[in-house]
Amino acid sequence: MSPRDDLPAVTLRNLTKRFGDFVAVSGISLDVARGEIFGFLGPNGAGKSTTIRMLCGLLSPSEGTGTVAGFDVLTQTEGIKANIGYMSQKFSLYEDLTVEENIDFYAGIYGIPRVKRAERKAWVIQMAGLEEQRGMRCGTLSGGVKQRLALGCAVLHEPPVLFLDEPTSGVDPISRRAFWDLIYDMSSRGVTVFVTTHYMEEAEYCDRLGLVYAGRLIALGTPSELKGKVSAAAPAERVTLEDVFVTLIEEESAKAATQEVAR
Ligand SMILES: Nc1ncnc2c1ncn2[C@@H]1O[C@H](COP(=O)(O)OP(=O)(O)OP(=O)(O)O)[C@@H](O)[C@H]1O
Ligand SMILES: [Mg+2]
Repeated sequence: MSPRDDLPAVTLRNLTKRFGDFVAVSGISLDVARGEIFGFLGPNGAGKSTTIRMLCGLLSPSEGTGTVAGFDVLTQTEGIKANIGYMSQKFSLYEDLTVEENIDFYAGIYGIPRVKRAERKAWVIQMAGLEEQRGMRCGTLSGGVKQRLALGCAVLHEPPVLFLDEPTSGVDPISRRAFWDLIYDMSSRGVTVFVTTHYMEEAEYCDRLGLVYAGRLIALGTPSELKGKVSAAAPAERVTLEDVFVTLIEEESAKAATQEVAR
């Protein structure tokens, strides 16, 4: 089955995941345009990673559907896997292998033709700024360097869509900035980036944001559109994304508490 090329890079329609009686992702619908940097925000346990796993074809939805790079998440998971880069929340590099050996390993996993491997490896090393570390074992690298290498491994096969699940957690601000420079670079080449983060200054770098709470999408828009939603609480120019995040989540949790009492 071939992909549909008339669709946005990522589409979700009523996407839902239940684990037993628990609803982890509840009826999310949204589109991400090609080349867009889309930030997916929400508190711990909101359903971000579960949504990403469904979009990557790693977990089947309980209800609803979605497409990634024109491939259907229900029926075309092989097509999806060949067309995405995925950096999971606990990404895995082999600590005993060197930078180059890790890249070689992932080049094998992604089935990159042997004749192209040297060129792709050189590109990743240059893109991620790893020239000096290429012979070093990963276990000895700093967190920021590991994260850049993991990103490089995730894009070895030049996927058009990239899923990054908290790619910068636990690294210092300079390394995070360097990582975001790479994300911008990918986006400028037309790659679509779907990224989760708990850092609000990173959310500012996104073209558009979706805020999830208890599995539901409670807000969707550009950073400035979202700030407009809570500007009654403070002068618009002083509202931060952290204000937006806290205000909207508190409103939702108050609503949920009222509904609970009414029941
Ligand atoms: N395989 C599973 N079985 C049962 N419950 C699960 C499973 N995977 C996730 N959950 C639950 O679903 C909810 C959403 O989890 P998820 O990992 O998607 O949250 P998240 O938004 O990524 O959180 P964090 O910011 O902490 O990474 C959580 O309550 C989690 O415990
Ligand atoms: Mg998560």
